[in-house]
Amino acid sequence: MGWVFKFINSSIGKKFMMALTGSFLLIFLVIHLIGNLTLFFGADAFNAYVLTLDAIKPLIRIIEIVLLAAFVIHILNGTRLWISNKKAKGQRNQINGSPQNSDVFSRTMFLTGSIIFIFLVIHLGTFFWRFNVSDPMGFADEHQYYNMVVYFFNIWWYAVLYVIAMVLLGYHLNHGFQSAFQTFGWNHKKYTPWIKKIGTIYAIIMALGFAAMPLYFLLGGGN
Ligand code: HEM
Repeated sequence: MGWVFKFINSSIGKKFMMALTGSFLLIFLVIHLIGNLTLFFGADAFNAYVLTLDAIKPLIRIIEIVLLAAFVIHILNGTRLWISNKKAKGQRNQINGSPQNSDVFSRTMFLTGSIIFIFLVIHLGTFFWRFNVSDPMGFADEHQYYNMVVYFFNIWWYAVLYVIAMVLLGYHLNHGFQSAFQTFGWNHKKYTPWIKKIGTIYAIIMALGFAAMPLYFLLGGGN
């Protein structure tokens, strides 16, 4: 068992755990986006979707616990790697002042990740909490889930906050996708450029798909 902890705490182990939890989160986002697309089909479709999730609550609870663990491991390891990279870079720059040769996406992973974390806290506080724990406005008690989403996305600054967060999410996913492949050792002269392209397409679909929802309601859709 000792070697497992040793591996997880090594720098390659930390990267591996980042890639593993990140891949799980990439899949979660696809499922979350597909489920939320019911918002475009009106109140009945979205409320029925939420009630379906409610009907399989024990399974959803297990997924949520795994999801929480994935987020925590991803964020903790990301922060630890960022700190050790910063230290290593400081030492390198003292020796030879070496210029950075990474792109803007990889250099801003910690920044975009931190903003997505803040978004997530606000997002869960708005929807997850009200759907599952307590909703002072009473939407959830009457199963008016759709109306709750419409209510929040009609608040202009709240909708704009989502759109900005989704642009940054796109940046984060663009690098994260290809980085996970690299960490798993799936590196190939022929396939790596394709993996990068697929990662960019994935990131654009996720960012546009999620941003479309607040924009749709903000611009009067669904009323
Ligand atoms: C406009 C875009 C989004 C909408 C409309 C939306 C909507 C929702 C709703 C309604 C819930 C509550 C579901 C329930 O508890 O039954 C929820 C939960 C959640 N959302 Fe989002 N979401 C969006 C974007 C995102 C993004 C980008 C992320 C990740 C970065 C995310 C992560 C989560 C997580 C982790 C949960 C809790 C897990 C769950 O209950 O399934 N969401 N979202």
